[in-house]
Amino acid sequence: MRATNSTTMYYSFFLCLFLAASIFSFAQTPVVSGEKIYANNCLTCHQADGMGVIGMNPPLSKTKWVLGDKNQLITILLKGMKQTLEIGDEFYENPMPAQSHLNDKEMAAVLTYVRSHFGNKASAVSEAEVKKVRLGN
Ligand code: HEC
Repeated sequence: MRATNSTTMYYSFFLCLFLAASIFSFAQTPVVSGEKIYANNCLTCHQADGMGVIGMNPPLSKTKWVLGDKNQLITILLKGMKQTLEIGDEFYENPMPAQSHLNDKEMAAVLTYVRSHFGNKASAVSEAEVKKVRLGN
């Protein structure tokens, strides 16, 4: 009886320690979710399905900017964009404000999300790649 009790206590102690450690490490490393960053920073203009708003905000589905050169794509977030775009049969002339408040990790996460959703199947963007462009190579 005594032995069983102390064994139970022993295990409970380590279980508590393990739970506390997991909660602590979870709180220490916030998960940077591309989907969340998209929802908070891009969705109002480019919409939940990434299809944008015709004539106002361009779609992010299979465009040459989303699928093409990563440096150019990263630069759009760092500097914003202001040119006339022709996508499909539509023209887009509204400027896009820079998203430079996002840090390297957040930009990498949101671009990786965009490049792998909305019908896109392009490679991930890394934090290092964003950093390089931000620092001007
Ligand atoms: C205030 C509205 C707005 C917000 C917020 C916004 N965009 Fe844009 N975005 C635009 C507009 C408008 C353009 C077209 C700019 C132009 O014509 O020069 C554009 C262009 C783009 C392009 C290039 C064109 C294309 O369709 O492929 C990409 C890529 C892009 N945005 C990604 C993003 C991402 C990722 C975010 C969030 C981190 C974001 N945008 C936030 C409005 C916005």
